[in-house]
Amino acid sequence: VSDVTIRPGQPDEIDLFVRSVARAFNWMPKPADLELDRLLLEPERTLLAEDGADVVGTAAIFSLTMTMPGLVSTPIAGITAVGVAPTHRRQGVLTALMHRQLDDLAEREAVAVLLASEPVIYGRFGYGLATRRMSVHASRRGSTLRPELPTGGATVRQAEPDAVGQDLAAVYDRACADRVGFWARDDRWWRHRLHDPPEDRDGYQPLLAAVADVAGEPAGYALYSAKPNWDDDAVPAGSIRVRELVALSVPAHTALWRYLTALDLIEDITVWNLAPDDPLPLLVANTRQLRARVTDYFWTRVVRVGDALSTRRYARPLDVVLDVVDPLRPDNQRCWRLSGDPTGASCQPTTATADLEVDVRALGGAYLGGTTLLSLAEAGMVVENTPGALVEVSSAFREPREPFAPMGF
Ligand SMILES: CC(C)(COP(=O)(O)OP(=O)(O)OC[C@H]1O[C@@H](n2cnc3c(N)ncnc32)[C@H](O)[C@@H]1OP(=O)(O)O)[C@@H](O)C(=O)NCCC(=O)NCCS
Repeated sequence: VSDVTIRPGQPDEIDLFVRSVARAFNWMPKPADLELDRLLLEPERTLLAEDGADVVGTAAIFSLTMTMPGLVSTPIAGITAVGVAPTHRRQGVLTALMHRQLDDLAEREAVAVLLASEPVIYGRFGYGLATRRMSVHASRRGSTLRPELPTGGATVRQAEPDAVGQDLAAVYDRACADRVGFWARDDRWWRHRLHDPPEDRDGYQPLLAAVADVAGEPAGYALYSAKPNWDDDAVPAGSIRVRELVALSVPAHTALWRYLTALDLIEDITVWNLAPDDPLPLLVANTRQLRARVTDYFWTRVVRVGDALSTRRYARPLDVVLDVVDPLRPDNQRCWRLSGDPTGASCQPTTATADLEVDVRALGGAYLGGTTLLSLAEAGMVVENTPGALVEVSSAFREPREPFAPMGF
């Protein structure tokens, strides 16, 4: 790695940057992908690692706003486009990029969030597993809703997504204000969400929207596509896959699932991005046949402990001294007195004796209120010095609903 240098990208280098990322992911960007990336990437927040004239590593930051515990809308660094050329792997290029990126972003954001291509990669840089997603693959048998489920309250209309863009955005914005982990979407990100080039459809038809209205107002939507099919005996064997489903109320949520699971000629349904506490497994009659699976989703890094912990709110009053272990960021590695409640918080350096010793990965894991400090302690990342402190602090960090967003970056 001694010959490799790292520098921020220039505005005219986005295509070079994207092609380099793509090589690391065994993928070739198409013109439509490049166009989208030019819209979304912030050149001054990209990093290129170079060996001579060759780009051998990349990383970038999206400047995003995420809803934090207490429903506080907070700037975060959305980490993306991390890759190292196959010729230069396991020589420390990623390590150099991550260190530089943490230094850069610490000047702007207190928290960084990413999705990992592989969960083994980012723990070493202080990221902790903060949210999970549930994927579902159900046959018709597994997706039949409970017969006594109430039907009233919402109507569903089908549309092309672009024709109902305002309805989708209105629903999303309200959901974003109400759910920890959602991050704000502007027009550019909506373009990304609805990006549907024919060559990426894998035999599915163009994306469709189903919008649920309650009392004349859009209260939920699903984005989905269908693949019509019949088997050799001419039995209908179509599939649908749901790209995203967001609902603001129980009637809207139920109506959308009723619509999706009752489509004629469809035999199976796939959705990969439900919140792990989405009620779908409780809506269906044969929950085991739903075949739901929960995996890691957002990884969170507390970059500036004092600012990060005083920005979010806490479910119940707490007053605790945390001894934070963060070898990578010496400013964080010390004792902090954290006091807070549902209305506000403060987090200051202290010389008092610690109640809990907390690895910075655990702090990131618990930050959004999903992963509990209790389970992180059982995983060896938190040590309790003051009996009783762990349960108390763990429940203060915890959110009633799982933090979630239906899309990464
Ligand atoms: C993941 C990737 C960026 C790692 O880059 P790299 O330059 O090889 O990483 P480094 O040499 O800095 O490795 C740092 C440490 O992480 C380990 N590591 C890195 N990637 C790993 C992986 N995919 N699996 C297991 N261990 C990995 C290394 O072994 C090394 O461990 P050590 O410190 O104990 O020696 C690179 O393999 C890559 O581009 N993969 C394909 C694209 C991708 O998955 N990008 C991540 C997107 S989220």
